[in-house]
Amino acid sequence: MSFTRRHLLGIEPLHPSEIVTLLDLADDYAEATRRGERHGQALRGLTQINMFFENSTRTQASFEIAGKRLGAEVMNMAMQASSVKKGETLIDTALTLNAMRPDLLVVRHPHSGAVNLLAEKVNCAVLNAGDGRHEHPTQALLDALTIRRAKGRLHRLTVAICGDIAHSRVARSNLILLGKMENRVRLVGPPTLMPAQVAELGVEVTDDMAEGLRDADVVMMLRLQKERMDGAFIPSEREYYHRFGLDAAKLAHAKPDAIVMHPGPMNRGVEIDGTLADDINRSVIQEQVEMGVAVRMAAMDLLVRNLRAA
Ligand code: NCD
Repeated sequence: MSFTRRHLLGIEPLHPSEIVTLLDLADDYAEATRRGERHGQALRGLTQINMFFENSTRTQASFEIAGKRLGAEVMNMAMQASSVKKGETLIDTALTLNAMRPDLLVVRHPHSGAVNLLAEKVNCAVLNAGDGRHEHPTQALLDALTIRRAKGRLHRLTVAICGDIAHSRVARSNLILLGKMENRVRLVGPPTLMPAQVAELGVEVTDDMAEGLRDADVVMMLRLQKERMDGAFIPSEREYYHRFGLDAAKLAHAKPDAIVMHPGPMNRGVEIDGTLADDINRSVIQEQVEMGVAVRMAAMDLLVRNLRAA
């Protein structure tokens, strides 16, 4: 086994072989779940705490189901309503929880770097469920597993990541992962939604969907992260849809068997046409959700094995 880390904080530090180890185990869990095996033992008797400092439905539910399928006791902390509101610092919250001796801490936080900071203060394994614009490692892993299952491989593919790149931790983690596995990545979107140092990323960048999608194997759409925008980044949603929204006509520039992805939640009619999102011949959006549970099972299983070995 080649995954020996204490925490899963980002894709950046991972070696390609660690990514493959995670994906292989996740694939096994996906198949076991499809066969109806719902009662794994890997986390039996362990306590998993989900701390979401930012609203989330699907990611929190996915981590909760993953933990329960492996036998963990799962607790969801409603951080919105907690002592954070009363002025407690992130570190105090972490130390308090640490004293309750959880085994796994799943953390989402609006500030980039907050989860890494927290991981330094606790004895358990920490999983980053998304921090600011920084990383969302389990999302990139579930996307990678979905791509690998659909395309039969995870290298030498052309992947177009489209839309609000600047505000997206999903784009960032995916970009890093796909680069490590030697794929060709293109970023497509208006210049106002590109990160400042985009030229230094070493990937192709364009504001033209036809050019960006040309011969792509994978078209990954992103949500407009309105909650992270502090001003006008697009003229109007209508105009944005016209130029950057994915519909059948724009998808025709990609390979005939290109798959369509979206991390959710989707703004139908803003970044993607609703009919296309539901087209099971092209869209793998539901499969992404399914693989999300499998990837989180694998990640928590591997981290707990390392915790026990330590
Ligand atoms: C993503 C996130 O939170 O970064 N969503 C998710 O994990 N369900 C993407 C998004 O919010 O657009």
